[in-house]
This record gives sequence, structure tokens and C-alpha cells, in this order.
Amino acid sequence: MIQKRYDSLSRLLHWSMAAIIIYATVAGYVMHLVVGTKAFEVLSVLNMSFATIGTVLFVMRWVWSYFRPAVASVNSTTTFEKNIAKFVHSVLYLLMFLVFVSGFLMLKEPYWFFWLVKVPNPVTDMVINDFFFFVHRASCAVLGLVVVMHIGAVVYHQFWLRDNLIARLMPSKPKPVVMHLSQKKGRV
Ligand code: HEM
Repeated sequence: MIQKRYDSLSRLLHWSMAAIIIYATVAGYVMHLVVGTKAFEVLSVLNMSFATIGTVLFVMRWVWSYFRPAVASVNSTTTFEKNIAKFVHSVLYLLMFLVFVSGFLMLKEPYWFFWLVKVPNPVTDMVINDFFFFVHRASCAVLGLVVVMHIGAVVYHQFWLRDNLIARLMPSKPKPVVMHLSQKKGRV
């Protein structure tokens, strides 16, 4: 059956990953301002820990995107615009993949997952680490730009086309309770 809005798992994955990606991007750039301080170490552990959760969620989301119930497309856009939206969503998936994979492969040392577990770095060759550091910086910058475009498109839908596109990712409204006249007897 074709649904009007995304299923609850897709909504949960979209918003939790949006929070992680926006947080990690902002924190990643803020870290440049606090190099050599305790704040840098704290932000670094938090960033790697949230990125680890984000990687697991990313795999779940990518797999689920092929199995979830289909969502009807909105009537306010042309076929060309719908194709652009599909293309941008695929580019977002590709960029998230590049950001997460390069983030692990650029690690020169093991890292702490929320100060609880030490996770080893998968690659110990510095030249390969440096190459993936470059890939990571470039893919983070492009992901940031595409996310800004993505949010811009939502604002355009919301305030220009006024089609309330965002409702497709919001929890469904609770159904009104229908009462029969007989059930209402005795109620004030
Ligand atoms: C405040 C931030 C965000 C808002 C308001 C927002 C809003 C939306 C909306 C309304 C849709 C549905 C579009 C449609 O049905 O055609 C959507 C889909 C999508 N968004 Fe976002 N988004 C945000 C952040 C992000 C971020 C940070 C990412 C990932 C980097 C992202 C990735 C996606 C993807 C891949 C889809 C396609 C549906 C899916 O596969 O889950 N969004 N977003």
C-alpha cells in the first residue's frame, strides 16, 4: 500500500541521523578553535562516539530504504523536480557513506567510544590515513553544502509551495476518539 507519510522507523532514522550529522558537522568545525585544550579532547571523543552510532544507523537506514512501505509523491511538483529530489537524496546517502567510511580509515590511533570501550583504528599506514583524511574533509564540506540545499528545498516547499512536505516526516496525528450516543450517557 502506498502511504502518505514515511513509516515510523524511517522517521526515527531520519531525525536521529539529522541530529547526529548536524551536531558532528558543527562540532567538527568548532574543534579547530579549541585545538590543544581539554574541550578538544571531549569534543573529539563525543564526535567519534556519535559518528559510530551514526554509522550503524546509516547501514540500517540504507537497507530499510529498499524494504519500507512506498510513500506517495507530492502533487505540487513536476516529474523533473521529483527526479531532482530523488537524485539529491541518493547523493546524501553517497556522501554520508563517504564521510563515515573515510572517518574510520583516517584514524591514526584507537579512539574511545564514550570513554567506555577503546576501538582500534582499522588502518595503521600513515599514507593511507592521510589520503582518507583528505577524502573526509572534502566529503564533510560537500555534505554540509548539500544538507543546506536540502533544508532550503524543505523551506521552499513549506513557505512557497505551501504543500506541508515536512508532515511526511512528522508523527501521525492521534486519531479522534469516536463515541456512540449510548456510550455518552451519564457523562457530564
Ligand atoms: C533540519 C534538518 C532537516 C529537515 C527539516 C529535513 C527535512 C526532510 C523532509 C521534509 C524530507 C521528505 C522529502 C520528501 O518526502 O520528498 C526529507 C527526506 C530526506 N532527508 Fe532530510 N531533513 C533534514 C536534515 C537531513 C540531514 C542532515 C540528512 C542527511 C545528511 C537528511 C537526509 C534525507 C534523506 C536521505 C531523505 C530521503 C528520505 C530517506 O531516505 O530517509 N535530511 N528530509
